[in-house]
Amino acid sequence: MMPPSTTPAHRSYSLATIGGDGIGPEVLGEALRCIDDVAALYGFEVRTSPFNLGAEHYLRTGELVTDETLAQLARHDAILIGAVGDPRVESGVLERGLILRIRTAFAQSVNVRPAQLFRGIDSIVKDMTPERCDLVIVRENTEGLYASGGFVSHEGTPWATAMQLSLNTKPAIAACVEFAFQLAEQRRQHLTLCHKTNILIESGRLWSDTVNEIGERYPDVRHDYVHADACSVHLLERPEIFDVIVTDNLFGDLLSDLAAVIQGGMGLAPSANLNLTGTGPSMFEPIHGSAPDIAGTGGANPAGAIFAAAMCLNHLGEREAARALETATIQVLEELPAMRGPQMGCTTSEVGERIRTAMATRASVGLTTTDEAPRGTYRSRTDLSVERG
Ligand code: IPM
Ligand code: MG
Repeated sequence: MMPPSTTPAHRSYSLATIGGDGIGPEVLGEALRCIDDVAALYGFEVRTSPFNLGAEHYLRTGELVTDETLAQLARHDAILIGAVGDPRVESGVLERGLILRIRTAFAQSVNVRPAQLFRGIDSIVKDMTPERCDLVIVRENTEGLYASGGFVSHEGTPWATAMQLSLNTKPAIAACVEFAFQLAEQRRQHLTLCHKTNILIESGRLWSDTVNEIGERYPDVRHDYVHADACSVHLLERPEIFDVIVTDNLFGDLLSDLAAVIQGGMGLAPSANLNLTGTGPSMFEPIHGSAPDIAGTGGANPAGAIFAAAMCLNHLGEREAARALETATIQVLEELPAMRGPQMGCTTSEVGERIRTAMATRASVGLTTTDEAPRGTYRSRTDLSVERG
């Protein structure tokens, strides 16, 4: 990865963009327009290179992400992606060949998924309030059952057999746990390990030993443990008990969808796939899928992609700009009657337009985000900065 060229006079970043499938290009388009505007307001430049990857490209060429494409992606400061998945392509092909390939090739070992309910946004959970729902899931991002170890035998016979193995390495777990402790230290100093140590004894022990070991170096952070099944109930019934949850790849996948709907819907949830070592670009994406059923209808909410763009800007060091984009997005979301579909009252591009207008208006009256008193435990959803030693 090229280091961002950040001389005070001229800050410039290169962004690889992948629209992908379904609603991906629509929501990504709005996010990119927001980045253009916020960059102009905050005096930096973002150069974007679109990569034509996804179902169309695959169906036409049979190619997913080639080594050459990886080499091109590697020359960018970060990657921003819309969504991947298409009913015309067998399940798993695009997911593995594109998203997992990039996550793995660039050692994006940590996936960060904030879930925060904002004032004015309804949760499907009765009586949920912003004070009760403000947590971050830190998901191990390249291993576990996602590493695709295993074999099949006796295919097509009554004895057909499939073995799917879960890969758990100490370095990947430690990187994830260390990041989670750092994040917790800057939030409410509480880390919860979520696993299934009563059944997955081997991997569970490696995870809990690693948490205990690393926890010694974070005396200010209280850490505890919850089983994954109980965690899904707690997320619904009392999310306030969580600050940072650290968990393995598959549990993180499941629980982050659940957390996303609790905080207002899948359409609002962003994520960051972080390379923590500087050996490759990090990737930012909404956590929702390609929603082919509503593609082209204008019914997709671009907020997840726009929050992901803000996470990306924060990661690149443009914290003020990230915060301004995030604040304008929240302001517009609070005004929408619903979070997706025709009930949203405006289209994907109108939501994007309203966010850009809100950003410009706030800037023109000199309203910077730091002028505002934080509400309650409010902390930026897109601020990932942890001090790294
Ligand atoms: C996610 C998605 C991906 C995952 C798919 C698209 C590979 O569900 O980012 O949560 O399973 O990680
Ligand atoms: Mg998922």
